[in-house]
Amino acid sequence: MIRPHGGKPVERTLAAAKADLRAPSIAIDSDLLGEIENICHGVFHPLSGFMRQDELQGVLDDMRLPGGAPWTIPILLPVDEGTRSGELLSLVHHGKAVGEMTVEDVYSFDRDTICQKTFGTSDPAHPGVAEVMASPGRFAGGRVALFSEIKDEFSPYYLKPIQTRAIFSEKGWKRVVGFQTRNVPHIGHEHVQREALGSVDGLFINPVIGKKKAGDFRDSVIIRAYQKLISHSLPNAVLGILRTKMRYAGPKEAIFHAIIRKNFGCTHFIVGRDHAGVGKYYPPYAAQEIFGEFDDLGITPIFFRTIYFCHRCDSVVSGCDHPPESHMHFSGTRLREKILKKENPDGMLRKEILDVILEEENPFV
Ligand code: ADX
Repeated sequence: MIRPHGGKPVERTLAAAKADLRAPSIAIDSDLLGEIENICHGVFHPLSGFMRQDELQGVLDDMRLPGGAPWTIPILLPVDEGTRSGELLSLVHHGKAVGEMTVEDVYSFDRDTICQKTFGTSDPAHPGVAEVMASPGRFAGGRVALFSEIKDEFSPYYLKPIQTRAIFSEKGWKRVVGFQTRNVPHIGHEHVQREALGSVDGLFINPVIGKKKAGDFRDSVIIRAYQKLISHSLPNAVLGILRTKMRYAGPKEAIFHAIIRKNFGCTHFIVGRDHAGVGKYYPPYAAQEIFGEFDDLGITPIFFRTIYFCHRCDSVVSGCDHPPESHMHFSGTRLREKILKKENPDGMLRKEILDVILEEENPFV
C-alpha cells in the first residue's frame, strides 16, 4: 500500500476532552472544524496542526514544508489580538469544546502575498482571494487535537484514510485512482473516470463537501447524484467525502488535491481541464504542468485534455477531426441555466442524474 505523504504514518487518536473552563478559547466554524478533523485523521498528513509562520513561508516560497515534503496550500487559523504564543487554546464549536491547540506561534502575514503566491492573483473577485482578504491577517500555528468526530448529514459518507486504505486492501485494489470533484457527474466526468479505470484496479470518488461559491452545486445533490451513478453503472468505485472548502487555486490546489488522495491510499490521481479553476484565472492545462515541478510527489497524475461531445462522432471524445460546430462542450454555466429551467442540458447529464437533481427545488449554493 502506498505510504502517506511526507514520511511515517502517524495514527492520531481522539484526545480526551478536558473541562478547564479557564482556558483561553476560540470559536471554530464548521469549515475550520473540518480542517481540524483532516489534520487529526491524517487527510492532511504530514501536518499535525495549523501552519506556523515558517511553514507558511515554505509553502508560499518553495511549495514545500520545512521538512521538505511538497505542500502548496496554506492551512491557517485566523486569530484576533487576544491569542498568545505558548497557551493551550480550547477550540469551541457551537458552544462545545471540540478540541485544543498548543499555540506555538502567533504571527501577522501580508494577505496580499498569501493571495499572489497561492492564487496567482489578489483580485478580490476571485473567491479564494475574497476569503483570505476577509481574515484579519493574523494567524496562530501549532499542533491540534480533536475530542470527538463531526456528526452531520454527511457523516455516513466520511471515510478516514485508515478506512479507505482498509477498503482498498479488502477489495484487492493495488492501483487506485482518486477523482476530485465539486460537481454532479456529467457524461464528460464519467468518460474521464472510465478511461482512468482502464489502467488501475479501482476508483475513489472523493467530492469536496464544504464552502463553495454561489452557483456551484449543493453538497447533498452531489452526494445523491454520485450514489445514483455508482449503483447504476460504476461498480468499481468507492465514494467518500472530503470535508474541506474549495479554494479555486487551480494548479496549487491540484497538487494539494493529489497529496490528499495519496493519504487516502490512492496511487493515481485524475487531473483534467482547468482543475479547481474558476473564471479565466488559470490557463486550461496549468494544473497539469505544475506536476512537472515535483519529482517526489509519490502519486501519479493521469492527465486528460479537454473532453467534449462530438455530434459527428456521436460520442464523448478528447479530440477528433470534426469541425468545432459539431462539438458540445461541458459548460457549467449552460448546465446551470438549463437545470434552473428544469430542462435536460443538451444531453450533458444521464437521465437518472438529471432526475436526482430535479428532485431539489434549488440544487445550487
Ligand atoms: S473541480 O473544480 O473539482 O476540478 P470538476 O468537478 O468539474 O471541478 O472536475 C473534476 C475533474 O474532472 C477535474 O480534474 C477536472 O479537470 C476534470 N474535468 C471536468 N470537466 C472536464 C472536461 N470537459 N475535460 C477534461 N477534464 C474535465
